Amino acid sequence: MINLDTSTPFDQISLAETAQKCQECSLCPLHKTRHCTVFGCGPENATVLAIGEAPGQEEDLKGLPFVGEAGLLLRKIFASVNINPETEIYITNLLKCRPPSNRKPLPEEITQCQNYLIKQIQTIKPKIIILIGSTSLKALLDKTLSITQTRGNWHQIKVNHLKSPLYLMPVFHPSYLLKNPSNKKGLPKWLTWQDFKEIKAALDFYKKEL
Ligand code: URA
Ligand code: URA
Repeated sequence: MINLDTSTPFDQISLAETAQKCQECSLCPLHKTRHCTVFGCGPENATVLAIGEAPGQEEDLKGLPFVGEAGLLLRKIFASVNINPETEIYITNLLKCRPPSNRKPLPEEITQCQNYLIKQIQTIKPKIIILIGSTSLKALLDKTLSITQTRGNWHQIKVNHLKSPLYLMPVFHPSYLLKNPSNKKGLPKWLTWQDFKEIKAALDFYKKEL
Protein backbone atom coordinates (compact mmCIF):
# COMPACT_ATOMS: atom_id res chain seq x y z
CA MET A 1 0.00 0.00 0.00
CA ILE A 2 1.20 3.51 -0.79
CA ASN A 3 2.05 5.58 2.30
CA LEU A 4 0.90 9.13 1.59
CA ASP A 5 2.75 10.56 4.60
CA THR A 6 6.26 9.89 3.29
CA SER A 7 8.49 12.61 1.93
CA THR A 8 9.51 12.40 -1.73
CA PRO A 9 12.59 13.51 -3.70
CA PHE A 10 10.34 16.34 -4.98
CA ASP A 11 9.60 18.04 -1.65
CA GLN A 12 11.54 21.20 -2.59
CA ILE A 13 10.29 21.57 -6.18
CA SER A 14 6.97 22.51 -7.81
CA LEU A 15 4.46 20.14 -9.39
CA ALA A 16 5.41 21.45 -12.86
CA GLU A 17 9.09 20.71 -12.17
CA THR A 18 8.13 17.26 -10.89
CA ALA A 19 6.23 16.64 -14.14
CA GLN A 20 9.39 17.55 -16.08
CA LYS A 21 11.44 15.08 -14.03
CA CYS A 22 8.78 12.45 -14.68
CA GLN A 23 9.24 12.93 -18.45
CA GLU A 24 12.85 11.80 -18.09
CA CYS A 25 12.11 9.02 -15.58
CA SER A 26 13.83 5.67 -16.11
CA LEU A 27 13.16 4.08 -12.71
CA CYS A 28 11.32 1.10 -14.19
CA PRO A 29 11.52 -0.74 -17.54
CA LEU A 30 8.29 0.85 -18.81
CA HIS A 31 10.33 3.88 -19.92
CA LYS A 32 11.79 1.75 -22.73
CA THR A 33 8.43 1.15 -24.41
CA ARG A 34 6.59 4.42 -23.73
CA HIS A 35 6.03 7.21 -26.25
CA CYS A 36 4.98 9.79 -23.66
CA THR A 37 4.74 9.88 -19.91
CA VAL A 38 1.26 10.76 -18.71
CA PHE A 39 1.74 12.81 -15.57
CA GLY A 40 -1.83 14.06 -15.14
CA CYS A 41 -3.85 17.17 -15.86
CA GLY A 42 -6.25 19.55 -14.22
CA PRO A 43 -6.20 22.48 -11.81
CA GLU A 44 -3.48 22.33 -9.15
CA ASN A 45 -6.01 23.40 -6.52
CA ALA A 46 -8.67 20.85 -7.51
CA THR A 47 -11.01 19.66 -4.74
CA VAL A 48 -11.24 16.27 -6.43
CA LEU A 49 -8.39 14.05 -7.60
CA ALA A 50 -9.26 11.05 -9.79
CA ILE A 51 -6.76 8.18 -9.92
CA GLY A 52 -6.92 5.56 -12.67
CA GLU A 53 -4.66 2.61 -13.30
CA ALA A 54 -2.18 3.43 -16.06
CA PRO A 55 -2.10 5.09 -19.49
CA GLY A 56 -3.46 3.05 -22.41
CA GLN A 57 -2.44 3.30 -26.05
CA GLU A 58 -4.13 6.61 -26.81
CA GLU A 59 -2.89 8.20 -23.58
CA ASP A 60 0.66 7.01 -24.29
CA LEU A 61 0.56 8.70 -27.70
CA LYS A 62 -1.00 11.95 -26.51
CA GLY A 63 0.58 12.31 -23.06
CA LEU A 64 -2.84 12.94 -21.48
CA PRO A 65 -4.89 10.76 -19.10
CA PHE A 66 -8.24 9.19 -20.01
CA VAL A 67 -8.46 10.32 -23.64
CA GLY A 68 -9.18 6.89 -25.20
CA GLU A 69 -12.47 4.99 -25.28
CA ALA A 70 -12.64 4.42 -21.50
CA GLY A 71 -11.67 8.05 -20.96
CA LEU A 72 -14.51 9.29 -23.16
CA LEU A 73 -16.96 7.24 -21.11
CA LEU A 74 -15.49 8.63 -17.88
CA ARG A 75 -15.92 12.17 -19.24
CA LYS A 76 -19.54 11.39 -20.21
CA ILE A 77 -20.24 10.17 -16.67
CA PHE A 78 -18.77 13.39 -15.23
CA ALA A 79 -20.92 15.43 -17.62
CA SER A 80 -24.06 13.46 -16.64
CA VAL A 81 -23.72 14.74 -13.05
CA ASN A 82 -22.78 18.29 -14.15
CA ILE A 83 -19.10 18.08 -13.29
CA ASN A 84 -16.70 19.68 -15.77
CA PRO A 85 -13.54 17.58 -15.40
CA GLU A 86 -11.39 20.19 -17.22
CA THR A 87 -11.97 22.80 -14.54
CA GLU A 88 -12.95 20.77 -11.47
CA ILE A 89 -10.94 17.54 -11.42
CA TYR A 90 -7.24 16.72 -11.46
CA ILE A 91 -7.00 13.40 -13.33
CA THR A 92 -4.02 11.07 -13.10
CA ASN A 93 -3.04 7.41 -12.83
CA LEU A 94 -1.10 5.16 -10.48
CA LEU A 95 1.46 4.58 -13.24
CA LYS A 96 2.69 7.40 -15.44
CA CYS A 97 3.82 5.06 -18.26
CA ARG A 98 1.86 2.54 -20.29
CA PRO A 99 2.35 -1.16 -19.50
CA PRO A 100 2.78 -3.15 -22.75
CA SER A 101 -0.55 -4.46 -24.13
CA ASN A 102 -2.33 -2.69 -21.23
CA ARG A 103 -1.47 -5.43 -18.75
CA LYS A 104 -2.10 -4.70 -15.08
CA PRO A 105 0.62 -2.71 -13.31
CA LEU A 106 3.14 -4.89 -11.44
CA PRO A 107 3.57 -4.23 -7.70
CA GLU A 108 7.17 -3.11 -8.26
CA GLU A 109 6.07 -0.64 -10.97
CA ILE A 110 3.55 0.89 -8.56
CA THR A 111 6.29 1.19 -5.93
CA GLN A 112 8.79 2.76 -8.35
CA CYS A 113 6.20 5.26 -9.58
CA GLN A 114 4.53 6.14 -6.28
CA ASN A 115 6.52 9.28 -5.45
CA TYR A 116 4.91 11.13 -8.36
CA LEU A 117 1.44 10.35 -7.02
CA ILE A 118 2.41 11.19 -3.44
CA LYS A 119 3.77 14.54 -4.64
CA GLN A 120 0.53 15.19 -6.56
CA ILE A 121 -1.60 14.47 -3.49
CA GLN A 122 0.62 16.53 -1.18
CA THR A 123 0.60 19.51 -3.57
CA ILE A 124 -3.00 19.48 -4.80
CA LYS A 125 -4.35 18.73 -1.29
CA PRO A 126 -7.67 17.35 -2.58
CA LYS A 127 -10.64 16.83 -0.27
CA ILE A 128 -11.95 13.92 -2.32
CA ILE A 129 -10.18 11.14 -4.21
CA ILE A 130 -11.98 8.98 -6.77
CA LEU A 131 -10.30 5.58 -6.95
CA ILE A 132 -11.01 4.43 -10.48
CA GLY A 133 -11.06 0.63 -10.58
CA SER A 134 -9.70 -2.15 -8.46
CA THR A 135 -5.97 -1.47 -9.00
CA SER A 136 -6.06 2.03 -7.49
CA LEU A 137 -8.41 0.85 -4.74
CA LYS A 138 -5.94 -1.85 -3.70
CA ALA A 139 -2.87 0.39 -4.01
CA LEU A 140 -4.30 3.26 -1.98
CA LEU A 141 -6.62 1.68 0.57
CA ASP A 142 -6.07 -2.01 1.17
CA LYS A 143 -5.01 -4.80 -1.15
CA THR A 144 -7.63 -7.17 0.26
CA LEU A 145 -10.59 -4.93 -0.68
CA SER A 146 -12.84 -5.85 -3.59
CA ILE A 147 -14.15 -3.14 -5.90
CA THR A 148 -17.59 -4.78 -6.07
CA GLN A 149 -17.96 -4.65 -2.30
CA THR A 150 -16.42 -1.24 -1.64
CA ARG A 151 -17.55 0.93 -4.57
CA GLY A 152 -20.03 3.58 -3.61
CA ASN A 153 -18.81 3.77 -0.01
CA TRP A 154 -16.78 6.66 1.34
CA HIS A 155 -13.51 5.77 3.05
CA GLN A 156 -11.84 8.32 5.27
CA ILE A 157 -8.10 8.55 5.86
CA LYS A 158 -5.87 11.05 7.65
CA VAL A 159 -2.82 12.33 5.79
CA ASN A 160 -0.17 14.32 7.70
CA HIS A 161 0.21 16.91 4.93
CA LEU A 162 -3.52 17.66 4.78
CA LYS A 163 -5.46 19.61 7.39
CA SER A 164 -8.80 17.91 6.81
CA PRO A 165 -9.40 14.18 6.37
CA LEU A 166 -9.31 12.78 2.87
CA TYR A 167 -12.48 11.11 1.58
CA LEU A 168 -11.97 8.34 -0.96
CA MET A 169 -14.67 6.87 -3.17
CA PRO A 170 -13.91 3.68 -5.13
CA VAL A 171 -15.82 3.37 -8.42
CA PHE A 172 -15.87 0.82 -11.23
CA HIS A 173 -13.31 1.39 -13.97
CA PRO A 174 -14.90 2.74 -17.18
CA SER A 175 -13.26 -0.07 -19.18
CA TYR A 176 -15.27 -2.52 -17.04
CA LEU A 177 -18.40 -0.49 -17.86
CA LEU A 178 -17.59 -0.72 -21.58
CA LYS A 179 -17.81 -4.51 -21.17
CA ASN A 180 -21.04 -4.20 -19.14
CA PRO A 181 -22.90 -1.49 -21.05
CA SER A 182 -26.46 -2.03 -19.77
CA ASN A 183 -28.02 0.98 -18.00
CA LYS A 184 -30.48 -1.24 -16.11
CA LYS A 185 -31.10 -0.38 -12.47
CA GLY A 186 -28.74 -2.29 -10.16
CA LEU A 187 -26.16 -3.09 -12.86
CA PRO A 188 -22.59 -1.65 -12.86
CA LYS A 189 -23.25 1.36 -15.09
CA TRP A 190 -26.31 2.42 -13.10
CA LEU A 191 -24.43 1.89 -9.81
CA THR A 192 -21.56 4.04 -11.10
CA TRP A 193 -23.98 6.82 -11.96
CA GLN A 194 -25.26 6.74 -8.34
CA ASP A 195 -21.63 6.90 -7.11
CA PHE A 196 -20.91 9.96 -9.25
CA LYS A 197 -24.07 11.67 -7.96
CA GLU A 198 -22.61 11.16 -4.44
CA ILE A 199 -19.30 12.64 -5.60
CA LYS A 200 -21.09 15.64 -7.12
CA ALA A 201 -22.97 16.25 -3.84
CA ALA A 202 -19.70 16.10 -1.88
CA LEU A 203 -18.01 18.47 -4.36
CA ASP A 204 -20.89 20.97 -4.01
CA PHE A 205 -20.62 20.74 -0.23
CA TYR A 206 -16.93 21.71 -0.35
CA LYS A 207 -17.61 24.48 -2.87
CA LYS A 208 -20.02 26.08 -0.38
CA GLU A 209 -17.43 25.77 2.36
CA LEU A 210 -14.73 27.62 0.37
N1 URA B 1 -7.32 3.65 -18.20
C1 URA B 1 -6.74 4.19 -17.10
O1 URA B 1 -6.77 3.62 -16.02
N2 URA B 1 -6.16 5.38 -17.24
C2 URA B 1 -6.12 6.06 -18.37
O2 URA B 1 -5.56 7.15 -18.39
C3 URA B 1 -6.73 5.48 -19.49
C4 URA B 1 -7.32 4.29 -19.39
N1 URA C 1 -12.27 -5.12 -12.25
C1 URA C 1 -11.44 -4.06 -12.16
O1 URA C 1 -10.23 -4.20 -12.20
N2 URA C 1 -11.96 -2.84 -12.03
C2 URA C 1 -13.28 -2.62 -11.98
O2 URA C 1 -13.68 -1.50 -11.85
C3 URA C 1 -14.14 -3.75 -12.06
C4 URA C 1 -13.62 -4.99 -12.18
